[in-house]
Amino acid sequence: MDIKVSTSIMCADFLRLGEVVKELENAGADYLHFDIMDGHFVPNFTMGPDMLKSIRNMTDVPFDTHLMVYDPERYVESFIQTGSDLLVIHTEACKHLHRTVDLIKQNGAMAGVAINPATPLSSLDYILEQVFMVLIMSVDPGFAGQKMIPSAIRKIRELRNKIDSAGLDVQIQVDGNVSFENAPKMVAAGAEILVAGSSSVFHRDMSIREGMEKLRQCVRGEKI
Ligand code: DX5
Ligand code: ZN
Repeated sequence: MDIKVSTSIMCADFLRLGEVVKELENAGADYLHFDIMDGHFVPNFTMGPDMLKSIRNMTDVPFDTHLMVYDPERYVESFIQTGSDLLVIHTEACKHLHRTVDLIKQNGAMAGVAINPATPLSSLDYILEQVFMVLIMSVDPGFAGQKMIPSAIRKIRELRNKIDSAGLDVQIQVDGNVSFENAPKMVAAGAEILVAGSSSVFHRDMSIREGMEKLRQCVRGEKI
């Protein structure tokens, strides 16, 4: 299976953001993952559309934008205009999910829906066939450097079965503590897009290139 890596920009050194983006591009990042926070749906702040716009001007790597904000329909147009190829909204934060998914698609981006660790898969039953991707959160969102909630693996497997038995073509992304140790289990359960943050590509003990290599080796099951 072709596993994609979406690298978490909130884990980058913001003082040298441009260089980091080039390093990610050279290391073969499949997406740049932007964690957008409103200080309300999650207790933190990170970045906004202007930052994406600046980065859009310097790279062609697709943008995967994860909106951790209430009423995300308010920001769909602005985050697509500033370069998001894939826009992901939380089921818990959006009152009218079909309308917002449609808005994302009408504006020319691919739509994804995210669910928190305690949100049941059944919340996706009536939206699954409308989306490009489901994002399974393996930590409560808001901060890098947290520990995976173990039930995430079972949830990925159950979602994989649901997608396959319905004959759908929906990608599964996983976000939160995608470490060298956890990533192979996530992939074995059916995840196809890994969000790589401080647990792998931005690991404090290695360079971005080394972190990316090691992550890919781990998911291929190679000895390291
Ligand atoms: C969590 C963020 C993640 C985070 C993942 O709210 O959505 O993207 O940066 O990175 P680590 O590996 O630090 O969990
Ligand atoms: Zn994220």
